Parts: sequence; structure tokens; C-alpha cells
Amino acid sequence: MKVLFATGNIGKYREVKQILARYGIEVERVDLDYPELQSDSLEEIAAYGARYCAESLGQPVIVEDSGLFIEALNGFPGPYSAYVFDTIGNEGILKLLEGEENRKAEFISVVGYCEPGGRPVTFTGEIRGRIAEEPRGGEGFGYDPIFIPEGEDRTFAELGVEEKCKISHRTRALERFAEWYENNVAGR
Ligand code: IMP
Repeated sequence: MKVLFATGNIGKYREVKQILARYGIEVERVDLDYPELQSDSLEEIAAYGARYCAESLGQPVIVEDSGLFIEALNGFPGPYSAYVFDTIGNEGILKLLEGEENRKAEFISVVGYCEPGGRPVTFTGEIRGRIAEEPRGGEGFGYDPIFIPEGEDRTFAELGVEEKCKISHRTRALERFAEWYENNVAGR
């Protein structure tokens, strides 16, 4: 079983490959950019991206869209996490939270799957945690150095990819996708 994964993000690709390998699903990366729908809903963004990529490639494909939702900032940066990371980054987020005691945050991942001519389906995973006081750890990507998952003292970047992929938002979304894929697509 092999699926195409459209992403320009190598960090994501490594994780998705590792997670889906557990289900016997091989992942091949396609470096295809899709227009990011302006929407507050990660599901809508992933569904749109999956359909766009399936039509462009003429093959079944998955995409993944994720966001960091910070409680004290009313869910910011949420669906705008990529833009915010590229502009103010981890230091900017920490500055916005200076003196803030409520550090609660949640990562959400949505996997979108679509076949050419078909309707996209989406699978969501989430993990609660908190924002660290300072960046820590050298592994992973994006907000990993400032996100501490619930029940942990270490950030995702300190945990490393292996540990992160046992519990992450992306893992949960992909587990749901893999179960659906096995029942609905594989062996068709
Ligand atoms: P997008 O899903 O590519 O739109 O990514 C949203 C933003 O969140 C990007 O800046 C990513 O680097 C960041 N991001 C997504 N998933 C993770 C993660 O698992 N850890 C840390 N940062 C992430």
C-alpha cells in the first residue's frame, strides 16, 4: 500500500512516513504546493488542499494541515500558524505570552485524503499541552521547542521525533486515517 503525501515540509514528511509505516502504508512525498484556503477551519483547508492536489496529480493523495491554538490568545495563531511562525516565530509567541500565567495550548492536525473526481475526507487529531517559558531542545520543527505535551516536562523538541510520534496530534489524525484507509481503500 502506497500513498502520495503532498507537502513541502520535510519535518512533517518524516513523521508521516514513520507513523504510517506502522500500518504497512508506504508514503511517497510530492513537493506540490496547494493554495491555502483562507478559513478558520483546518478541516476546510485540508479538504480543499486534498481535492486540489488529487485533481492536479490525477492520483489519490493526502495532505496535512495543522495549527497551534493558544488559550490565552483566544486560539491564536490557529489556522494561521504557518504565517505566524514565518513572521514572528517562537520568540514572538513567547513575547505575546510574557507575564501570562495561562500557558495552555493545543495542537490540532487534520489529514485530508482525496481521489481524483472524488469527495475529500478528513481525519482530526489533537494534543493538549502548554507553552514553555523559553525554547528548549534541538529536534523537530516549527513550534516544537516551545510546546510541552500534557503529562510531560520536556518540549516536543526535547522528546525527539520517536517519542513525539507516539503521542502527537499528527499521530492521532493519521491513526484515524489509517484505520479508515484499511477498511475503505486497501484491497479494493
Ligand atoms: P501547516 O500545517 O503547514 O500550515 O503548518 C502550520 C505551522 O505550524 C507551521 O509553521 C508548522 O511549522 C507548525 N507546525 C505544524 N505541526 C507542527 C508540529 O508538529 N510541531 C511544531 N510545529 C508544527
